[in-house]
Amino acid sequence: MNVKTIAVIGAGSMGHQIAMLSALAGYKTNLQDLKNEALEKAKLDLTKIMDKWVAKEKITIEAKDQAFENLFFTTDIREAAGQADLVIEAVVEKLEVKREVFAELDQIVPSHTVLATNSSTIVSSLIADATSRPDKVCNMHFFFPPLVMDCVEVVKGEHTSDQTAQLAMEICSQLNRTAVLLQKEISGFIANRILFAIQKEAMALYEGGYANYKDIDKITRKALSHPIGPFELMDLSGIDVGYYVMQQQYAETGDPKDKPSKTITEKVEAGELGRKTGKGFYEYGTKVNR
Ligand SMILES: NC(=O)c1ccc[n+]([C@@H]2O[C@H](COP(=O)([O-])OP(=O)(O)OC[C@H]3O[C@@H](n4cnc5c(N)ncnc54)[C@H](O)[C@@H]3O)[C@@H](O)[C@H]2O)c1
Repeated sequence: MNVKTIAVIGAGSMGHQIAMLSALAGYKTNLQDLKNEALEKAKLDLTKIMDKWVAKEKITIEAKDQAFENLFFTTDIREAAGQADLVIEAVVEKLEVKREVFAELDQIVPSHTVLATNSSTIVSSLIADATSRPDKVCNMHFFFPPLVMDCVEVVKGEHTSDQTAQLAMEICSQLNRTAVLLQKEISGFIANRILFAIQKEAMALYEGGYANYKDIDKITRKALSHPIGPFELMDLSGIDVGYYVMQQQYAETGDPKDKPSKTITEKVEAGELGRKTGKGFYEYGTKVNR
């Protein structure tokens, strides 16, 4: 399939940067969000990042201008996806919302269009049956922040056709991202399963009073050579994001060990979501730009 237009649904932390990768790769790219403010913020943040890239000579000014010419912002899902060959969904991590979005997209997009979800955990078989084209549904899991992190997990469910998985892999390579194909579904995929195991253990050690979160981060950085500690990483990616992921896993497994911990729940209820709100485990002074 000759992909010309890519739509990204949801212009939050992930969506706006996935859309930029697509625009930089030369695709006509439509970024859609329900909220106009999210689109305005996306525009502002992308302008700042691309200006920095130009200043650091990562891209030319012409490449930046061309990418912005390729990129369209809209609150209208029909306008965004009506002509799209590939849609990448990056809305909130709630299964029922994703199913609604996929059902709506199925009605809007051409019959050849592939629908991918950027979910951190939810396998696409839980969403595919909301559409009439399960063979064209798969996971394309980018990592935060997509403009920096060079990895995408493409997950092929039993319903996903070989052509769909192949197309997702090819697009990743066009977006200049290393893609890895998972031939079988598992909730949370590979990287996050490993990461959550570390975060769960870090949280249990903190809640058990064995060390404070700063020292757990320090040990993880110094002794295990991780570039960033588990609590610092939760602040960076958004404590609410992890919270929804755990809720989803608990809904799927029913295992109390998968439930969001007491500390995570308290942080979310207090609106202390990490860097994006200026406070999570650590304080960031003023509200930080995503
Ligand atoms: N943040 C991360 O570290 C990370 C990493 C990989 C994958 N993901 C996944 O990416 C997805 C998005 O996460 P995020 O961190 O960007 O979330 P976010 O909360 O920053 O952004 C979500 C955006 O989706 C919009 N939205 C909600 N419902 C919508 C709808 N029906 N139609 C259009 N827009 C809608 C919201 O207005 C918001 O702007 C989630 O599935 C998450 O699991 C997140």
